[in-house]
Amino acid sequence: MTGTNAGPVYRFSSCMHILPPSFLDELFRVSAVPGIISFAGGLPDASLFDLQGIRQATEAVFDEHGRAALQYTTTDGYRPLREIIARRYYTRLGLLVSADEIQIVNGSQQALDLMAKILTSPGDSILIERPGYLGAIEAFSFYSPVFSPVPPDDEGPDPDYLANIIRTEDPVFFYGIPNSQNPSGCTWSDMRRREVADILSGTDCLLYEDDAFGELFFDGKPRQPVMKHLPDQVMMSGSFSKVVAPGLRIGWIRAPRPVLAAFNRAKQAADLHSNLFSQMVLTEYMTRNNPDEKIRAMGREYGERCRLMTDLIEDMLPDTVGHTNPVGGMFLMLTLPDSMHSMEIFEKGIQEGVAVMPGVPFYVDDGGCRTIRLNFSASSKEQIEAGMSRLARVFRDMA
Ligand SMILES: Cc1ncc(COP(=O)(O)O)c(C=O)c1O
Repeated sequence: MTGTNAGPVYRFSSCMHILPPSFLDELFRVSAVPGIISFAGGLPDASLFDLQGIRQATEAVFDEHGRAALQYTTTDGYRPLREIIARRYYTRLGLLVSADEIQIVNGSQQALDLMAKILTSPGDSILIERPGYLGAIEAFSFYSPVFSPVPPDDEGPDPDYLANIIRTEDPVFFYGIPNSQNPSGCTWSDMRRREVADILSGTDCLLYEDDAFGELFFDGKPRQPVMKHLPDQVMMSGSFSKVVAPGLRIGWIRAPRPVLAAFNRAKQAADLHSNLFSQMVLTEYMTRNNPDEKIRAMGREYGERCRLMTDLIEDMLPDTVGHTNPVGGMFLMLTLPDSMHSMEIFEKGIQEGVAVMPGVPFYVDDGGCRTIRLNFSASSKEQIEAGMSRLARVFRDMA
């Protein structure tokens, strides 16, 4: 078709027509309303970023590397940073991971996109927790998969359901977040991690283990990943976003070598390599500072905010409202009685000056009417108290 006097007809690929509608525009709109307290977003608290440490690391990069820090580099990433990441798998989790198995990415979000790109053809089945991370749903959707949600029980994904759906749907991979899941805040039990590994073992279904929050347990104690039990079948992503600074846009993926080789080709085609300067700054930062104590302090602080929020939920919201009990991460989830709808709470919340995230976009089926995600990392304790009072008014008015 040719353009008209009004201008060209813009033609987009077929995948643009099947993308789920984005809720983020609406969120940004409401978050900009003056005076609003937002539990809807997902940011770490910027006041906890180590400005001084990152400034010193940046200067050291210029002093030590000069113009080399501004040059192109290899696709797999800056070797010293990959070595630091590999070493931390050993020091934190006792796992032997080689730097050769690590690929640097532009935030772990990029790994979601590229992994789906290399593994899925249109119509292939992808399993995802129910509810699941919105950013993964959006990234995977570009490749036209068929999503199958896997419901949880108290310990993680329902094992019988998982075993059955792997048999019937032959999925290419199962995407899950065992540590402090986004959006629910739930953590899989150790036993369930082993069960999931057993279920997957002997099938062709891979596990995409997203570990965005694994260093943010409130008690500072790491949990063993599923990757430990099934290294040849698990891709595991990690990120510096939550524990150092998201603006650096540096994450990584550890994957079995054949998967990594394909991933590397896709990454090269997408962007040649991740920001070398950021990688060098992070390397300096992680080497010069002992970041572990700072990261543990961050986890403790988020733990206090989470406990404050759950205490206020129990004190101020109706008994019919339930909540998850996170042991780490940045989110918790409310469950609503049948008489309430999460979108209505969202709308009324805005009128009262508090933004919450309705569950709807986290479900690849029609769920989410009775769930709400709350973020506790981005608000101070005072803001959590004020915001929960506003939310309590919303619930009172709807009773
Ligand atoms: C579960 C999960 N995975 C991945 C990401 C992407 O993070 P980044 O690209 O900053 O590493 C996020 C961001 O919030 C997340 O919540």
